Amino acid sequence: MAVGVWLATVALAMLAAASREGTFAWHNASIYTLDDASPYASALCAADGWIRGVGDASILESAACALSRGHSVDLRGATVVPGLTDSHAHLMEEAARLTQADLTSATSAEDMAQRAAAFARHLPAHKWVQGFGWDQTRWASGEFPTRFDVDALIPDRPAFLIHISGHAALINSAALARISPLPEHDPPGGRIERDASGRPTGILTDNAQNLALRVIPKWSDAEAHAALGKVLAECARHGLTGVHDLAAYAADIELYARTNLTLRVYAMRRADEAAPSAPHVRRGLLTVRAVKLFADGAMGSWTAAMLEPYADRPGERGTLVYSDAALEGNVSAWAERGYQVCTHAIGDAANRQVLGAYERVLHARRAARGGADAEDGQACEDVRWRVEHAQMLARADVGRFAALGVIPSMQPSHCASDLSYAERRLGPERAKLAYAWRSLLQSGVKHMPFGSDFPTAGTVPPLLGLHAAVTRQRADGTPAAGWHPEQRVTRLQALRGYTTDAAYASFREAELGRIAPGFRADLTAFDRDVLTCPAADLLVTRVLATVVGGRVVFSRGRRPSSSDRVTTRLDGRCGRAQGC
Ligand SMILES: *[C@@H]1O[C@H](CO)[C@@H](O)[C@H](O)[C@H]1NC(C)=O
Ligand SMILES: *[C@@H]1O[C@H](CO)[C@@H](O)[C@H](O)[C@H]1NC(C)=O
Ligand SMILES: *[C@@H]1O[C@H](CO)[C@@H](O)[C@H](O)[C@H]1NC(C)=O
Ligand SMILES: [Zn+2]
Repeated sequence: MAVGVWLATVALAMLAAASREGTFAWHNASIYTLDDASPYASALCAADGWIRGVGDASILESAACALSRGHSVDLRGATVVPGLTDSHAHLMEEAARLTQADLTSATSAEDMAQRAAAFARHLPAHKWVQGFGWDQTRWASGEFPTRFDVDALIPDRPAFLIHISGHAALINSAALARISPLPEHDPPGGRIERDASGRPTGILTDNAQNLALRVIPKWSDAEAHAALGKVLAECARHGLTGVHDLAAYAADIELYARTNLTLRVYAMRRADEAAPSAPHVRRGLLTVRAVKLFADGAMGSWTAAMLEPYADRPGERGTLVYSDAALEGNVSAWAERGYQVCTHAIGDAANRQVLGAYERVLHARRAARGGADAEDGQACEDVRWRVEHAQMLARADVGRFAALGVIPSMQPSHCASDLSYAERRLGPERAKLAYAWRSLLQSGVKHMPFGSDFPTAGTVPPLLGLHAAVTRQRADGTPAAGWHPEQRVTRLQALRGYTTDAAYASFREAELGRIAPGFRADLTAFDRDVLTCPAADLLVTRVLATVVGGRVVFSRGRRPSSSDRVTTRLDGRCGRAQGC
């Protein structure tokens, strides 16, 4: 459809219609409700942030839509779906990325250092040079860089450059000097890489990164607010109405609680930060009732824990963060406090360890309750524990998710970003069960929330993930036949991952993820039909509007160069997402 026409008529009408906050009616739309009772509609009405009526244009005459009358907008054929939720992302890391050197397109260690040095020239002299996104798997050398690569160009101020996976970072010698004394031994769950003569190379993996993070000066309140505002605007622009924020620090959660958010944030506490003591929070758009544990590292840095060695690094099997007993103890302790447990597991050994720990704790909890149904092998307690990534699975473990009621929380974008080297790391046999979406669904998994893992190996636009889920291709359309296309999912299944399944995975399926009376008015509108358009068109589809709880948080055309203007506005006076 003609976006220009949409701009002129609809966006303005939408703003006018929103004059009574959260109360409006849309008609002449193509609405996918994801409500099995009534999957398609052309009109809806909302009042005070809740959907009141869904159907054809006549619904707007009904009593249910009485309040919305007079706030009616012709959507001129736009496609509307339940507001999209990213079920696995890192808001404050994205906030950091937006304020750091972009190293994602570096083509070598030297090129990476040059980009960081160029960025440093515009920074106040006392600031650390921080960068994000280098990826040695895309370089000719294929090897990790060392601090000497960076020292050549940034000799006298500290630099901290994060790997695309977030599971490793490179520091230069000036930064190394700030960490004193450098421990002689690796910290638990991390590694200080050393060369043959025992000197640190500057690479810190997983928990070892904390050695540097502890000495980097923290953001001021104003800096944090401004950076979060940028991320919120970016999410709204790309149609996100919710994000599951994986591994939020207590300070992040405090920041969210003080911010007038423009999307729902389902924040997970970090198990490595604090003892399981804090109570649940539900305040406005913020919910805190889950905890994130890490069982291993990532495939890109050979730190994902594998049952057998990596095909391209003989003898290396990655690292488990916990012993079996410690993982079980931590799962149990958080569960006792009523937290939903969500554990990062990428390698097949980590997935097996996590499934085993979940299974034992579920059994112990059932036994403690009297064990009435101990024989059926089902977890009848509605705990909805999640495995984040579930990226590489041993064949024997695929069926255990459905059997235990454990939710695999998956990131289609990882498949797109890793497929160039996954086969080399894993070998042909194990590659068949990498990002095994279809195998998991066929094994009986009913809910498979999808996310991007932005900014690590994924970017904000959910339609890029939708594209990867249905094609198993990169965004440039390669490989043409898709990588292990037998693991693709349908368009509708992929959309469920960002809507109904995301809602279920956060205990909100009774009010989020569908367009039906009694549900929140969280909506995303597109300029074309994302369920029927050619898959390649998903990459150029435009978000026309994003609505959260009835509030229009983004509408294309409201500001012609919305991306820049919105960002500037957020940077301005009060540095928060709205009320400015
Ligand atoms: C619906 O939208 C189309 C544009 O896609 C427009 O041509 C048509 O006039 C609209 N119909 C009504 C009834 O408003
Ligand atoms: C949680 O894990 C840590 C680190 O492995 C361990 O020291 C601690 O004992 C565990 N907690 C419980 C309650 O088992
Ligand atoms: C949040 O922002 C919206 C829109 O800018 C405004 O209507 C609302 O009053 C604000 N809420 C708070 C608590 O500041
Ligand atoms: Zn993540």
